[in-house]
Amino acid sequence: MDSNRIQNLKNQAISSILEAKSDQELERLRIAYLGRKGELTQLLKKLSSLSPSERKEMGRLANDAKRAVKEALEEARKVKRIDFDKEWLDVTAPGKKPSLGHLHLITEAIEEITTIFERIGFTRVAYPEVEWDWYAFGGLNMPKNHPARDEWETLYIDNLKHNRFGRAVLTPHTSSGQLREMKQRKPPIRMLNIAKCYRRQSDVSHAPMFYQFETLVIDKKINIAHLKGTLDYFAQQYFGKNRKTRIRPFHFQFTEPSFEVDISCIVCGGRSCQVCKEGWLELGGAGMVHPTVLKNGGIDPEKYSGFASGFGVERVMMMKHGIDDIRLLFSNDLRFLKQF
Ligand code: DAH
Repeated sequence: MDSNRIQNLKNQAISSILEAKSDQELERLRIAYLGRKGELTQLLKKLSSLSPSERKEMGRLANDAKRAVKEALEEARKVKRIDFDKEWLDVTAPGKKPSLGHLHLITEAIEEITTIFERIGFTRVAYPEVEWDWYAFGGLNMPKNHPARDEWETLYIDNLKHNRFGRAVLTPHTSSGQLREMKQRKPPIRMLNIAKCYRRQSDVSHAPMFYQFETLVIDKKINIAHLKGTLDYFAQQYFGKNRKTRIRPFHFQFTEPSFEVDISCIVCGGRSCQVCKEGWLELGGAGMVHPTVLKNGGIDPEKYSGFASGFGVERVMMMKHGIDDIRLLFSNDLRFLKQF
């Protein structure tokens, strides 16, 4: 036995493995080299007849060869081999395009809404998701224990309280951003606050976590016509140019007067159908900022006036795409997401 023979055997084995064209051929090679009567196995068996010093050197080489052949076999098994005698490969065929994903529907909607409002001078802002009671309710004209608070199904946080601003809540609506904005900036204000909101609710049209987008405009002589014009602009940009909006009297604590905003039905074009209420679908709430809220925000209601609106991101997006169950949006099912 000499070291050259071991080296040659190893090289020969590895090159045969690299050239092998099928799994069967690999298995044959394994038996030929590493099987019970395989060449490398035989070689290893002969080591015992060598003198101790030779045995050490040859043993190292032979074991090294065995390990290398084993590794080569393992690697080769992972690779798909093509037998060019049997299989045909068209190297001129156009490649397969890797499939590209897209942003989540909600993220896409948020980006689209942001672009629409930025075009008319609104600035996107972000305020805390964990908020003090005062910003979410008290400062918005809903004192402690006021029944109007019940409409928000609020999630409170235990053991977290501010001396002046009260308990900690998970923002139940983006209107809390109105007070944050007023305290932070001087008029003229054109705010777009898009944020996660949390409420204790879950059904086809409500999720415990959802998004709202809130507008707030404050300047000298702002009136309802500015609000209506902005709503129409948004509806036409987002839903299409034939859409109209309608404002209906309603009540919110933080606006006076207050409205609910409807959009002409996308299905029947306003003629009345099963989907809508006599041609109209509800979009969200809006109104002229209440003087007390302006004062709470540090703005003089004698000098300035403003309007605000708050809509659900998922709600408008579902209306646009004709999606009827909000839970689909959060299920992460690719069969659903790929349709868009
Ligand atoms: N925050 C209200 C809600 O979540 C919606 C709303 C109503 C927002 C009137 C406004 C507004 O800015 O003026 O139900």
